[in-house]
Amino acid sequence: MARVIGILTAGGDSPGLNAAIRGVGKAGMNAYGMHIIGFRDGFRGLMENRTIRLDSGALSGILTVGGTILGTSRDKPHKMPIGGREMDMTEAMVDNYEKHHLDALVCLGGGGTQKNAYQLAKQGLNIVTLPKTIDNDVAMTDVTFGFDTALTIATEAIDRLHSTAHSHHRIIVVEVMGHNTGWLALGAGIAGGADVILVPEIPYDVEKVADAILRRSRAGKRFSIVAVSEGAMSREVAKALRTAAEACANAKDKAQKKKARDKLHAIESERLGSTSQLTQQLEALTGLESRVTILGHVQRGGIPSPADRLLASRLGTACADLVHRGVFGVMVAVRGEGTEPVPLEEVVGKRKTVPLDHPWIETARNLGVSLGDQ
Ligand code: F6P
Repeated sequence: MARVIGILTAGGDSPGLNAAIRGVGKAGMNAYGMHIIGFRDGFRGLMENRTIRLDSGALSGILTVGGTILGTSRDKPHKMPIGGREMDMTEAMVDNYEKHHLDALVCLGGGGTQKNAYQLAKQGLNIVTLPKTIDNDVAMTDVTFGFDTALTIATEAIDRLHSTAHSHHRIIVVEVMGHNTGWLALGAGIAGGADVILVPEIPYDVEKVADAILRRSRAGKRFSIVAVSEGAMSREVAKALRTAAEACANAKDKAQKKKARDKLHAIESERLGSTSQLTQQLEALTGLESRVTILGHVQRGGIPSPADRLLASRLGTACADLVHRGVFGVMVAVRGEGTEPVPLEEVVGKRKTVPLDHPWIETARNLGVSLGDQ
């Protein structure tokens, strides 16, 4: 009998999601005669049984379309906001999986989605996941789809900022997404020729950043571009975060834990809005006029790059093949030119940060880019 597979997209949207849906669907239908059902808006649609039939008509013309035709959400199965409360709705999802007689559920998402999908796998559902996110921070895969497009957009923005920074002899600080990892800022910073690149993995010293800019000024360079990851932090903030995290871990009772957690959240939210503050600090320390540009969600929007379309198509078709062979409880990881199924328990709870000895870091330093630490 033909297999029936469900598919959903969860977490932040990412260029290439439609190419991946199309890859799973076309390979599933053409090569294996599968029926495909899409669930709308991530795990919430699975819980509410909101579906869309993904027949060949629905899969036509979506390869180059940005976002996700299924819609997405950040809802978690075990903590679903319902009527002002957070409820565990895992059972409702298992029921809907069974109601549709699904042979497998394919979940497309980042680190959070891998974790949520793993919880469903532990309930006995046949799960296969694909790694998507512009942050490139999913563990156990060479790369995630969406990253290349965001890298291209952020690089083009840095290219454009050069001419205005140059004309006005300004410092331009450009904030790049990436959550708590620096892949996007580092990659776009190198590709776009930023003079300073700040990433979460390397806490910065603002005086060292100002020194690097002043050195450029003395050498006759009348502008500087500072690419900052949204998760970048100063050494002081990094220390405060470590102390707060330790206090959380060592809390002796509920009250102490709540206090420590509140403190941690306060430091984290302050950090997320700190790029404007950094820009003001640099202006004060260098005496050079400074401006901030926050790229934000534009980095996730629009048509996926050819590299992302190719990657998402490879992952999608490999996924259909795994479902056909009955390989479940895995994420389809990228390994060079190929793909490899990796057990979900090896993926969840990990984040792929930029290793300090990564070649991109060495490249940046050898190019004379300041990373704010030396
Ligand atoms: O994970 C992708 C991402 O774009 C991060 O880079 C960013 O921190 C986050 O999502 C923004 O999330 P939201 O779209 O929910 O504001």
